[in-house]
Amino acid sequence: MIKKAVIPAAGFGTRFLPATKAQPKEMLPIIDTPVIQYVVQECVDSGIEDILIISGKGKRSIEDHFDRNFELESRIQEREDEILYNRIRHIEDMANIHFIRQKELNGLGDAIYHARFHCGDQPFAVLLGDTIIDSVIPVTQQLIDAYEQYGQCVIAVEKVPRDKVSRYGIVGGTQLNDKLMQLSELVEKPERDKAPSDLAIAGRYILTPQIFSAIEKTARGKGNEVQLTDALRLLLKHDNIIASTIEGKRYDIGNKLDFLKTTVEFALKRPEFATKFEAFLRNTIKNIDEGRRA
Ligand code: G1P
Repeated sequence: MIKKAVIPAAGFGTRFLPATKAQPKEMLPIIDTPVIQYVVQECVDSGIEDILIISGKGKRSIEDHFDRNFELESRIQEREDEILYNRIRHIEDMANIHFIRQKELNGLGDAIYHARFHCGDQPFAVLLGDTIIDSVIPVTQQLIDAYEQYGQCVIAVEKVPRDKVSRYGIVGGTQLNDKLMQLSELVEKPERDKAPSDLAIAGRYILTPQIFSAIEKTARGKGNEVQLTDALRLLLKHDNIIASTIEGKRYDIGNKLDFLKTTVEFALKRPEFATKFEAFLRNTIKNIDEGRRA
């Protein structure tokens, strides 16, 4: 049973400056909900009860977001807005959320290493704090199902265009079925012609506690950082690792264009304004087309 998850959220968010100068990128909202709340919701929907967020400088508002705010609650109660009140109380009760600070940004592998005492000798889930995956079955649940079947580390992967492989960790191995692959290779951000496949690591993992000793032995890699992908490659010398192709749509919130696309797609799913927003989009496109024709 996997009951613990780790969400690394210490990075600077430089790709989103100046918005992230004084607020964490994980707190940027998709409509009215911070990105990290979607990630925590995926944990909760996958049966996770205990979450460790790896935070860092300037990330205190993440802690405040998941804390109780009695003054705000009583103001909403005075307005007799029960729906909003329940939405706010829900955030505060989602899970047991703990925080630890990564004092120096030494990479994803180093961030995960901060979870060793929290996770002890139990397997745990990892969800990157700037990736949302929209799916029928939460992707973390999909990975837990594979872990329960195989008892090995499981990594979520997704097919990406060949010209984008150098942005991701890329895996290679033997296909077990349509969805699962037994891994023999993992490379962090390879050059296009050195990538073992076009399957990219998609920001969700189930890791066994053996990862911690592998991280200890991992030298700095890409970007002079301790990479989780390199630690997994070390682990692969003695342990088996499975990759599971995600069933769902991944949104990389750390990237401005994807952030915009996510906002539009999520807005089109919100019943309170989906129709009006769709009409606005149609009208905007019509104006663009007419402008081009003129
Ligand atoms: C991290 C991982 C990489 C993975 C990616 C997914 O890279 O190191 O293996 O493919 O997340 O978003 P980052 O995007 O933090 O550079």
